[in-house]
Amino acid sequence: MAFAIKVNGTTHSVDVDGDTPLLWVLRDVLGMTGTKFGCGKALCGACTVHIDGVAARSCVAPIDSVGTSEITTIEAIGATPVGGKIQKAWLDLEVVQCGYCQSGQIMSASALLASNPHPTDSEIDDAMSGNICRCGTYLRIREAIKQAAQ
Ligand code: FES
Ligand code: FES
Repeated sequence: MAFAIKVNGTTHSVDVDGDTPLLWVLRDVLGMTGTKFGCGKALCGACTVHIDGVAARSCVAPIDSVGTSEITTIEAIGATPVGGKIQKAWLDLEVVQCGYCQSGQIMSASALLASNPHPTDSEIDDAMSGNICRCGTYLRIREAIKQAAQ
């Protein structure tokens, strides 16, 4: 079945089953491989994108639930004011270790700052608690969010 979805400002027509997760449409149909697969069960945050500006786990978002929502992925987040600040802070503080979780981390962090420009430490921890990092970069992530919020 054909679905028209809007990703990073461009409308794409994709021909997939309605229960296909958005993650696989992004990666396998549209070739946007910046969004990662981790658990497939909304438990790790690696697949985080924005749906209408809200951080969402694309591994559990069936394509037939997306409708006309605006989807933003890691490929375009740097073009937003908050996303640009987040990515600069990530580089300045050398947050990344292996990198696998980091596109999801950046998407959650940028959604946080877009809705709450000056979060407290506990608000940062709450917003980021669903994004798992096996390399343990949590302290640098929190510092980078605080730098981006300044
Ligand atoms: S792959 Fe979606 S939350 Fe883990
Ligand atoms: S940087 Fe390696 S999993 Fe987070």
